Amino acid sequence: MKFFIDTANLDEIKKGVAMGMVDGVTTNPSLVAKEDKPFEEIISDICKVVDGPVSAEVVSLEADGMVAEARELAKIADNIVIKIPMIVEGLKAVKMLSAEGIKTNVTLVFSSAQALLAAKAGASFVSPFVGRLDDIGTPGLDLISDIVTIYDNYGYQSEIIVASIRSPQHVVDSALVGADIATIPFKVINQLAKHPLTDKGMEQFLADWEKRTR
Ligand code: E4P
Repeated sequence: MKFFIDTANLDEIKKGVAMGMVDGVTTNPSLVAKEDKPFEEIISDICKVVDGPVSAEVVSLEADGMVAEARELAKIADNIVIKIPMIVEGLKAVKMLSAEGIKTNVTLVFSSAQALLAAKAGASFVSPFVGRLDDIGTPGLDLISDIVTIYDNYGYQSEIIVASIRSPQHVVDSALVGADIATIPFKVINQLAKHPLTDKGMEQFLADWEKRTR
């Protein structure tokens, strides 16, 4: 399973890379707005430290505007993926960009129907949001499982990025149902490494080591 890091913060990305846990990066307008640099500079800096796919999101609401933004963003680096919202205009943009060989990530996916349309349009990646579904009382992981089945049934090549991850359990559940990728906040990457019995075991080993007589 591939791990992407869900942040626009370069320090977090560098720390994740040092851990060997960053196969790619996803950003969105809200994450970019937290950083104190121009959008293109943020994306360019990220592409200098990550070889894998780096998603940068467009903000136009019409297909032609999305495509124009995408063409500019795609010039930043070879590993840029254009994040496109799951609306009808977005599907048109995905089809046009796919024909030009520009990779896309269809975002804000909340149903199997939307995931099916995104794959048919030729999306390279599709991002269903599990945490936001859980927030409204709809089990997010059920959606991932359904999309895995649908894509397997028809051999769609779009990779499933489980997004809006809030906990280590989201990551494990995504792996269990066979999602291709989880895009994970830095905090959750660290939580994945932790277990209280590991800490307790380390404490005991070090205490015993100090007590040794030779
Ligand atoms: C996905 O690519 C999005 O950036 C992200 O996962 C959204 O997560 P949130 O629901 O925590 O904002």
